[in-house]
Amino acid sequence: KIIVEIASPTGFCFGVKRAIESLEHCIDECVSAGEGNGKVYSIGMPIHNPQEVERLCRKGLVVTESIEEVPEGARVFIRAHGVPPGVKKKLQERCGNRVTDATCPFVKNAQEKAALLSGEGYYLLVLGDPDHPEVQAIVGCASGDVSVASSLSEVQGVGKKDKLGVISQTTQKTEFFGAAADILARKASELRVFNTICGATTRRQDAVRKITGTVDGLIVVGGRNSANTAKLVEIARSRGCDVLWIEHAGELDGRWFAGKARIGIAAGASTPDWLIEELKIAIETSQVSRGMEGYDGRNDD
Ligand code: F3S
Repeated sequence: KIIVEIASPTGFCFGVKRAIESLEHCIDECVSAGEGNGKVYSIGMPIHNPQEVERLCRKGLVVTESIEEVPEGARVFIRAHGVPPGVKKKLQERCGNRVTDATCPFVKNAQEKAALLSGEGYYLLVLGDPDHPEVQAIVGCASGDVSVASSLSEVQGVGKKDKLGVISQTTQKTEFFGAAADILARKASELRVFNTICGATTRRQDAVRKITGTVDGLIVVGGRNSANTAKLVEIARSRGCDVLWIEHAGELDGRWFAGKARIGIAAGASTPDWLIEELKIAIETSQVSRGMEGYDGRNDD
């Protein structure tokens, strides 16, 4: 029988938990007050986990692509990743005090540091993925020159600056952050670095480093669009661990289990506990002891 070990901590972080609770509270309020057909609008996915978003949509969440799709006066929710100040202002103009801002306090801290550095005349460099909504929201807080670097070669390419301010996407890998700061120390007369990687990220990444040494393979469960999940996969693979990245138990491939006696599970910060539990049960049930030959993740016992 396969032994399953779950990384600790793993799954929902403080910021995502807080945002989901706040969103469910908004939906409940709208339903009990009979307002807006019990609908609450979010610009973009409230968290990067399609299964959890589906569950919330069944309760009353509506995910839109743009502000224009939000009916005037509707209840609107700002997700943990935050939005640029200009977007928040437009939402408030459209929906008044019916905007609930669930931006994670750690993301808010990065936004404040961006505004501070920029306001003090530093060229701002954000270490992160330029396409990620959290980074776009942080960049939106800068009032001066700003750029984003997502790789060490991009960091190498930053020109000499008099005053250089550096912050990071909250889910950045600590190794990348350290290596980038080292390179940037040679590029500016004055360098100011704020480590804005959040503690939840660091602890989840450390948990993956630890578990890779004790298992024959690691299943990372989390949305394919989740930046912090991708980082967990990168860390485990860079340590030579055999990694299977899935969104839910239905994606398990029985062949991957061949020759493995001890399996680890780690999950992104936006992966709910119920998905982790479902996965653990799927692995531990009889399909595994039968060798999982051709197993497709369904538990038919
Ligand atoms: Fe916040 Fe960190 Fe989670 S920034 S949303 S606690 S990963």
